[in-house]
Amino acid sequence: MSLEDKNFTKYLNRHELDAAVQSIANRLNTDYAGKEVVLVGVLKGAIIFMADLVRHLKLDCEVEFVRLSSYGRSRTSSGTVTVIKDIQADVRGKHVLIIEEIIDSGRTLKFLYDRLKSAGPESVEIVTLLDKAAKRIVDVPVKYVGRPIEDQFLIGYGLDLEERCRNLPDVYYLKYPN
Ligand code: IMP
Ligand code: MG
Repeated sequence: MSLEDKNFTKYLNRHELDAAVQSIANRLNTDYAGKEVVLVGVLKGAIIFMADLVRHLKLDCEVEFVRLSSYGRSRTSSGTVTVIKDIQADVRGKHVLIIEEIIDSGRTLKFLYDRLKSAGPESVEIVTLLDKAAKRIVDVPVKYVGRPIEDQFLIGYGLDLEERCRNLPDVYYLKYPN
């Protein structure tokens, strides 16, 4: 697929992404020093961010993943969330960090946040690389944000367009989303 054909425009380059990842890692390294941490990445979009983030962490941490369905192959949320793949770790007494690449309506996160909270951890916080705050429908406490962004449909660095383009090293937006 040609980027030009799809009217993709570069939105964040890899240096800007690296800086956002590093600044989140710095905060986490300070806030969670000496604590038992379980990182819970949300598949599939968070894989690239998670892979880059963990390599900047100087923490004793476990890495877990969940897969939730809410969007299917559509570009807007269907509103219902189900668990397709759950975490294996016992989070009781541990500090949980949910790792997301982007938050839109907040529905997916709210579901996961409530679910993990009820599993008896010491704490749960949300980490997101990108935050479309203007699109929020459900209120979720997002403590760590790499970059606030405009209401735009983005692809690359883990973000997909109908399951493609996750491999692009930079983030692009669609000039003509429809
Ligand atoms: P929410 O439940 O509406 O907050 O949706 C969150 C999930 O939808 C994210 O974790 C992404 O997987 C996906 N998503 C939201 N916005 C975008 C986007 O601009 N591009 C690609 N995926 C997105
Ligand atoms: Mg996601």
